[in-house]
Amino acid sequence: MKDAVGREINYLRISVTDRCNFRCLYCMPEKGVEPKSHSDILRFEEMVEFVRAVAPLGITRIRVTGGEPLVRKGIPSFIRELRNINGIRDISITTNGSLLAPIAADLKDAGLDRVNISLDTLKPERFRKITRCGRLSDVLRGIESALETGLVPVKLNCVMVRGFNDDEIGDFIELTRSYPIYIRFIELMPLGEKGWSQGKYISAEEIKSSIKERLMPTGAPAGAGPAVYYRVPGAVGAVGFITPISRHFCDACNRVRLTADGKLKPCLESDLEIDIKKALREKKGEEELRSLFREAIMKKPVCHHMMPEEKSAHRRHMWQIGG
Ligand code: 5AD
Ligand code: SF4
Repeated sequence: MKDAVGREINYLRISVTDRCNFRCLYCMPEKGVEPKSHSDILRFEEMVEFVRAVAPLGITRIRVTGGEPLVRKGIPSFIRELRNINGIRDISITTNGSLLAPIAADLKDAGLDRVNISLDTLKPERFRKITRCGRLSDVLRGIESALETGLVPVKLNCVMVRGFNDDEIGDFIELTRSYPIYIRFIELMPLGEKGWSQGKYISAEEIKSSIKERLMPTGAPAGAGPAVYYRVPGAVGAVGFITPISRHFCDACNRVRLTADGKLKPCLESDLEIDIKKALREKKGEEELRSLFREAIMKKPVCHHMMPEEKSAHRRHMWQIGG
């Protein structure tokens, strides 16, 4: 369905958990976070019930996110349930990749189309530092298994942080020469711990101009969102830029988010949330769910106002929203 300014909303991102096995610097506080209690988190059946109710309103694409979605048990059967819903044509997951290798085949079999994997560095030591506890080799194995099982196109999300991984832009570009992977450089958003992003933002323009190779504009892969893609001559993969800060893409925004605790968020940046869990738990029925969904879409802000370096992080963090 269309929102109040005519944007066609067909894409729902579902965060299935606020837990994560990593503690990325720009995302989580060091000590971790108090995880929500099980009863606060929607059950898979509740999420499926919600999707079934809103699919007739024109939702055709689902992305499963977190936290880290794969820390929750039962994701393959959840994917299978989603796959069986009329009208759902495209299902993807955003994951940190570390738990992917052992279940990639199950996920594919359940009907998952493809994965986006977050990877900010190709250096093992640095990887441990930015994730505070992760092992790079697990993620690399996850990427391989995604390619092998056909969870493609594989897209890598790479958040650029000044003074931390901006010396690896060339290495990431190099990867696209031999692997059919889409690397997406994402501008750092001021969503993490208070003040953390101060001085660390790099614009896509700056990243792009630091690339020595010739970049030829190229078509976007399946499920293309707001990224703009380029290819270096002879490469099998491609490189994209996602610019939530320097050039927001609100006018083409096609998505809404469902948080793990059952709130619909019409915009990543806005604090506006609509409670779905209550309606689900009170068994209000499909019509009520649809009416709440319509309300969320009609209230979808026209535009966000994120600035590169906000000092206050008043909103939910990424692990709570699912990116
Ligand atoms: N700025 C930009 N991207 C972020 N992500 C998490 N936190 C931030 C942030 N503050 C990215 C993750 C993941 C995706 C869901 O969002 O790296 O790839
Ligand atoms: Fe976990 Fe992703 Fe946040 Fe890193 S960015 S802590 S992998 S949810």
